[in-house]
Amino acid sequence: MKASGIDVITLSVGEPDFNTPDPICEAAIAAIRKGHTKYTASAGIPELRAAIAEHLRSFNGIAADPSEVIVSCGAKQSVYQTLQVLINPGDEVILFAPYWMTYRDQVNLAGGTVVEVATSAANGFAPSIDDLRAAITDRTRAIIVNSPSNPTGGVYSRQVMKEIAAVALRHGLWVISDEIYEHLIYEGERTSMAALGKEIAEQTITISGFSKTYSMTGWRVGYAHAPKPVATALSNLQDQVTSNPTSFAQYGALQALQTPAEEIAAMRESFRVRRDLMVKALRQIPGVSVDVPAGAFYAFPDFSAFLSESCDDVQLVNKLLEEAGVATVPGSVFSGPGHIRLSYAVSPDEIERGVARIGEALTR
Ligand SMILES: Cc1ncc(COP(=O)(O)O)c(C=O)c1O
Repeated sequence: MKASGIDVITLSVGEPDFNTPDPICEAAIAAIRKGHTKYTASAGIPELRAAIAEHLRSFNGIAADPSEVIVSCGAKQSVYQTLQVLINPGDEVILFAPYWMTYRDQVNLAGGTVVEVATSAANGFAPSIDDLRAAITDRTRAIIVNSPSNPTGGVYSRQVMKEIAAVALRHGLWVISDEIYEHLIYEGERTSMAALGKEIAEQTITISGFSKTYSMTGWRVGYAHAPKPVATALSNLQDQVTSNPTSFAQYGALQALQTPAEEIAAMRESFRVRRDLMVKALRQIPGVSVDVPAGAFYAFPDFSAFLSESCDDVQLVNKLLEEAGVATVPGSVFSGPGHIRLSYAVSPDEIERGVARIGEALTR
């Protein structure tokens, strides 16, 4: 529609609208000029692995060693490789629904089976530990945790994280903790699973990356931190997949980790302002209910008042695109039917106009 000149407001994409900060771009350009354009070690350049280990220690509170850090072409690749390494055909992997749809497809690609544990807006999309326990069978192998969450924006409390850890320890399960939105928490505290103790750290793979915090989505740099045997397996697998993450992008990522805390705080504040704007605008549409998301850059409002047998959330999203010119994502894609995901990683003007158009289309 955009290509044919139609004015579409895109609230569907999980990508910050800022440019990658100049110092990061300059570092990558300098790396190219210095000739860092060849293969690197498959697990990443040693300087970056060391800097990520330091970040994991100082920011996440995880006792990380550089040898346990595997740099990849994005958190998505790290999740994929982790599932390939840990999951055998027939293994069950627990996902807290709604969840990032990539997890489901990647579990299936590894031959595993997804077992969903439902959560609801009523408790901030945090799982009930009784429901988690009830989902465990003798084939359960791993739990994927994503806090802050895409699509809900939910942030699990330390208590919930501890309870998940206790269940994982009791049943000998791996925890794959995707912390890609670690810098984007507006309310509540941040808890890294592997920071909860030595025992759970030995069963946890922590995944994060540079895309969201530093507006580096196209650079494709992420990482996994894992107990040594898993880290070695991840590196061996990666060696046969991409050989290594792009050489000069790794130098950009190294610079990104030098970004002053105030700059990250300013970016977070800008997202917080946009979040408040989006929630306020959504609440003005009669029939839409939305809680204030505590993290990431998504709102996940309930649109079930507008659904019927002849109009599910996919059809509603199509209607909003055709009649309002606003692109959003149906909740059922994330196993959260009845909801719609809207990203507020766009300009305040687009948020206001986009949500106003949705309201007009629904009340017409
Ligand atoms: C929860 C989650 N994990 C990982 C990613 C992908 O990150 P990367 O760009 O580092 O592959 C995304 C991107 O949308 C995401 O939402």
